[in-house]
Amino acid sequence: MLLTGTEGLKSLTEAYQAGYALPGFVAYNLETVQGIVAAAEASEGHPVLIQAGSSPFKHAGREPLMRLALDAAAHSPARLGVHLDHSRDLDEITACLAAGYTSVMVDGSHLPFAENIELTREAVRRARDHGAWVEAELGALAGDEDVSTNADATATAMTDPAQAGEFAAETGIDALAVAVGNVHGFTAHDVHLDLARLAAIHAAVPVPLVLHGASGLPTAELHGALTRGVAKVNVNAELRRAYLQAVASQLPSALPGSDAVSLWSAGRDAVAQAATRVIAQLTPQPA
Ligand code: 13P
Repeated sequence: MLLTGTEGLKSLTEAYQAGYALPGFVAYNLETVQGIVAAAEASEGHPVLIQAGSSPFKHAGREPLMRLALDAAAHSPARLGVHLDHSRDLDEITACLAAGYTSVMVDGSHLPFAENIELTREAVRRARDHGAWVEAELGALAGDEDVSTNADATATAMTDPAQAGEFAAETGIDALAVAVGNVHGFTAHDVHLDLARLAAIHAAVPVPLVLHGASGLPTAELHGALTRGVAKVNVNAELRRAYLQAVASQLPSALPGSDAVSLWSAGRDAVAQAATRVIAQLTPQPA
């Protein structure tokens, strides 16, 4: 089922209060959507967010990917939200809200503080008209959303806890993405979350926190985040790698018969397995 904004926010709040997290999985095409949905269906009720766009729209087109994700969610027995990730564009946000997205992320992290507040406030205003919930970002992660660039966390603009409190109060957001040493994509650099900073942000901000760049993060670091207010965890590179590795290993046997279906199926199944592993890491942890 496709969660409404109200149901999606309730799921996020429940996770926040109980110390677990909803996964936000990035989807680019039919097979990645199918893999994410299969993992959600195997999870016995764990709510899952399909992050359809913004950057995947460049590959798939906005309308086709929106429709694909919303339709897949609506026709599944799993509890699925459809979420717009990292959007800087209010028109794009409005189009996704009008189509029925459960939630949107407005990304003003590249802007000066006051302008980030202004952009985020407007996104919140528009989302309220559609009953959707809003994630925003303060601080900025190193790395690229679609390609692993061996990002170094020293290039991160860390989130300031005091500013985060002010930002949440000024904008009325429902969730805040933070930069606490996390990076987008896989990296050979050591990644360690600044858990003391995360705890200070958690104390200053009255809404759930979001951890982007969770691919490759050690489980202990991830669980440290879940006990400090993180209730949504974004994963992309792990699914991309699983997809590509499966397709690469299937390719030699698929080529002689031009058997594209076996290739796409292998990619889809690998995404499902990778997403299932992530969901298991995010389920409620014993105290
Ligand atoms: P990773 O690719 O590092 O998992 O990051 C995903 C993400 O944060 C999407 O917004």
